[in-house]
Amino acid sequence: MVSDAGPAAPVLGIETSCDETAAAVVVSGRQIRSSIVSSQVDLHARFGGVVPELASRAHLELVGPVIAEALGEAATDLSDLAAVAACRGPGLAGAVLVVSGGHTLLVTMQAHGQYRVVGQTVDDAAGEAFDKVARHLGLGYPGGPAIDALARQGNPEAIHFPRAMPGEPDFSFAGLKTAVVNHVRQHPDAALADVAASFQAAVVDQLVDKLAAAADEAGAPTLVLGGGVAANSALRERVSTLAADTRRRAFLPAPALCTDNGAMIAGAAWWRWQADGPTPLTDGVDPALGLPLAG
Ligand code: KG4
Repeated sequence: MVSDAGPAAPVLGIETSCDETAAAVVVSGRQIRSSIVSSQVDLHARFGGVVPELASRAHLELVGPVIAEALGEAATDLSDLAAVAACRGPGLAGAVLVVSGGHTLLVTMQAHGQYRVVGQTVDDAAGEAFDKVARHLGLGYPGGPAIDALARQGNPEAIHFPRAMPGEPDFSFAGLKTAVVNHVRQHPDAALADVAASFQAAVVDQLVDKLAAAADEAGAPTLVLGGGVAANSALRERVSTLAADTRRRAFLPAPALCTDNGAMIAGAAWWRWQADGPTPLTDGVDPALGLPLAG
């Protein structure tokens, strides 16, 4: 939806692709006036993962109040908005039983909207591995923050878990998850903090090694992290160090902007809108929506 408001007018971004109902008001794709996130974590926690049908119903109930709060906090009226941006994919769709496991993608970006996928996971996404390992260790859902916290008390070199697909741009985390499960089965007395720290180190090593190789190959001057796992403290530290060591810039979004939020939708929509104009309201949800790739 687009109004006659000028280019500096605010965009309302709405995010409902998974288990957060979120809305934000963002000006010029960059200035966040408000960002409201209502998490459904408690609703899904007892199932150990997101239940799409429950998520849809909760989004319906929450989206109105969340939008009202975002507009209120930004002191913005609906009529002030330049555009409304809603996430149409990838993720869950109300009537489709697709359970998105998240993504692990290594992408080079030339400019806004110009992406090339360099590598991706051949099985589980990194966030999925965090969630599955955490569930196995009895740490609850979502697993990433719980493992991140527990790992701080553990020794990342206590157990050597495999770093899959060395020398290749693609990722694999399913074997690592199995290795953790087997280790805990064989060593029931293992200190959970050491298991968490060693598992996390294996994930971070794999991510950062491939990031470093891809950045070298592409001659990329800048490293950018995005997505829920970008909130991981060990990953953030390693990427900051890599950037400093190789004289690159690193953009690490604030942790609250790594997990699902409306500001990223409004921000991304701003650049899309400048390039392609508005999306027709007849365009439906696409649970498997991919990045627009450069040829
Ligand atoms: O991007 P995101 O919010 O949601 C979708 O994939 O839709 O990512 C969620 C993922 C979950 O797997 C969660 O466990 C993980 O991000 N995550 C983390 C951390 N915070 C969230 N993983 C590792 N360390 C964290 N601190």
